[in-house]
Amino acid sequence: MQMRIGIFDSGLGGLLVAKAIRKAMPEYDYVYLGDTKRVPYGNRSQEIVFEFTKEAVDYLFEKEDCAIVIIACNTASARALRRIQKEYPDRKVLGVLIPAAEEAAKFYRIGVLGTVGTINSNTFPKEIKKLNKKAIVFQNPAPMLVPLVENGEIKMAGNFIKKYLTPLLSKKIEALVLGCTHYPILKNEFKKYVPKDVRIISQDEIVPKKLKDYLARHPEITEKLSKKKSIKILVTDKTKNMEVLAKKWFGSSSKMSLIEI
Ligand code: DGL
Repeated sequence: MQMRIGIFDSGLGGLLVAKAIRKAMPEYDYVYLGDTKRVPYGNRSQEIVFEFTKEAVDYLFEKEDCAIVIIACNTASARALRRIQKEYPDRKVLGVLIPAAEEAAKFYRIGVLGTVGTINSNTFPKEIKKLNKKAIVFQNPAPMLVPLVENGEIKMAGNFIKKYLTPLLSKKIEALVLGCTHYPILKNEFKKYVPKDVRIISQDEIVPKKLKDYLARHPEITEKLSKKKSIKILVTDKTKNMEVLAKKWFGSSSKMSLIEI
């Protein structure tokens, strides 16, 4: 039986995390699900984010034989993951928010940018402070960035990045968490506005190592994983930019299919 590692995001942001995970562990079989029909999740209610995330996770376990699913979406990690883990104790579902919070907790003055849902959930400050009681966390929602990334308008993002960063930089932050998996796609734009001495915490650089360590500690999962080096990309709507990025990052080895969840 071919059991895969499932990776889910509301859209194409998680593709960069998937690419980084695959680079760290190329031997496994992966399936990526982007809910491109319903993106963005960031401004939706908690109940809807839970419902959409649950549908996607169910699909990955039931139709795609995943042995483990990574929710490569901070909005879903903040608003749905705990409940999914509680309702399905036998399913291995991990998020991307805690690994970034663990990295951020090494600093004292921390800025977080994320979707409205992630920021309003207050999950980043809560998780960072559990690990570092002295940490002061400043947050700002950055709602315009996801639509720009989904539409491939990377060059247009600069003015918004500057606007969203200003209140955080005025607090003399030492680290900035890119608290949405769409933002690392804008990393070069961010670097133009974030001072060199502020550490940018980007999940594509953190999650692969954490997942590798997790799998090493859980042979009951790894022994189920097949190793044919494949990647399958599933979308709920075929969008131009998703096709462009999938081809650019996964080449001819990727197969994109339209699904209904
Ligand atoms: N990429 C997602 C995140 O990390 C969500 C973007 C959205 O759907 O609003 O929060």
